[in-house]
Amino acid sequence: MTVDVVVLGLGYVGLPLAREASRAGMSVLGFDVDSRVVDSLNAAQSHVDDVSDDDMAAMLRAGFRATADESEIATADAAVICVPTPLSPTGGPDLRAVESAVHAVARHLRPGMLVVLESTTYPGTTDELVRPILEKSGLAAGTDFHLAFSPERIDPGNEHFGVRNTPKVVGGHTPACTDRAADFYGRFIDTVVRTKGTREAETAKLLENTYRHINIALVNEMAKFCHQLGVDLWDVIRAAATKPFGFQAFYPGPGVGGHCIPIDPNYLSHNVRAKLGYPFRFVELAEEINATMPAYVARRAQNVLNDAGKAINGARVLLLGVTYKPNVADQRVSPASTLARRLADLGAVLSYHDPRVTHWEIGGVEVPRAGDLESAVAEADLVILVQNHREYDADRLAGLAKQFFDTRGATTVDEAYRL
Ligand SMILES: NC(=O)c1ccc[n+]([C@@H]2O[C@H](COP(=O)([O-])OP(=O)(O)OC[C@H]3O[C@@H](n4cnc5c(N)ncnc54)[C@H](O)[C@@H]3O)[C@@H](O)[C@H]2O)c1
Repeated sequence: MTVDVVVLGLGYVGLPLAREASRAGMSVLGFDVDSRVVDSLNAAQSHVDDVSDDDMAAMLRAGFRATADESEIATADAAVICVPTPLSPTGGPDLRAVESAVHAVARHLRPGMLVVLESTTYPGTTDELVRPILEKSGLAAGTDFHLAFSPERIDPGNEHFGVRNTPKVVGGHTPACTDRAADFYGRFIDTVVRTKGTREAETAKLLENTYRHINIALVNEMAKFCHQLGVDLWDVIRAAATKPFGFQAFYPGPGVGGHCIPIDPNYLSHNVRAKLGYPFRFVELAEEINATMPAYVARRAQNVLNDAGKAINGARVLLLGVTYKPNVADQRVSPASTLARRLADLGAVLSYHDPRVTHWEIGGVEVPRAGDLESAVAEADLVILVQNHREYDADRLAGLAKQFFDTRGATTVDEAYRL
């Protein structure tokens, strides 16, 4: 019994991909090393925001199955690798999950198979790391099996763009590998964009995220001096964004979070430094600026309390929204954690509210969760809007609060202080 595709790594990237392929009528197997993930998915319980339990049930009805048994990889015509690519303790790429997944595929590689890496990584990974491991099987890429890189572009929580309608970039080891990968993705994705090779596809993803990282740093730096100059940067951006060409709006905030923006540009800068010996200065500067934002927000919070004649030491500070982006439950690398640490260091008595987070710890210490939103807002000495989830009516909450500091530009009322 063969399947059309095995997806390795059933997380924020792999699971929506598996769902889309399954919806398109393909037979899909999921492989994950975490047996809890495998068991819960087989019981129709999703751990990913954008995939509901109903979606899981529909996938299972359509024949999807998750497994932790790597020998089943051999039953697939295509293997798509969607495992994590975090940073090592020294700030460089940590490709251990990719290596381990590729070894698993290599042990079960069959002639004619298509192997695609989707995990975000530095240019050259597919050719220099993935290909040699696969070729240890005795089969040659481009001749005996097809090999490609196709960056994942999933944007968790995005209601308009998902796997199907986000164009898919594909670069093969050979032109035939590109064709094979493009045909594969064309079965369940509307638009496929081909690059010259794997390195271009790898770098395209890093350019996208580096571009965002740098532009966020630009407005973060501007936020600081605009505040001092008495210029409302939110109004500036709103006005600039009316230009129908040549400008894209980015917004300041309490810091960058998640597993892409603070991490992926490092894959590129680390690679440039390691291979060429010089820095990627834009990335390093952007990192420096973005990393200052939680401390800057903490200082501004202190000033807001000061305006009201209150010291931050002992003040009750309520944080609204502690995830790394709005309308998702994902807390990975959330700037709220760094901000909370700063505020706690200054003596603030913290609590938080987040409709999607039931338990939140900072440095191993649980932060009390506010039950009723409006009474918690009214009681706190200072409320900081950290993440503007759709449940929040920022203007109304600002009206209820003693002091309200909006780090997301969500308020229009005079009562609110804005970043
Ligand atoms: N989450 C996003 O928004 C996003 C967007 C674009 C790109 N990416 C990239 O996609 C990749 C995957 O990220 P994610 O957010 O889906 O990660 P994730 O942590 O949500 O999921 C990864 C899954 O892979 C599993 N896994 C780890 N090692 C494995 C192995 N050797 N074999 C099989 N399964 C293994 C884990 O158990 C986990 O279930 C990363 O390179 C990331 O940078 C993520």
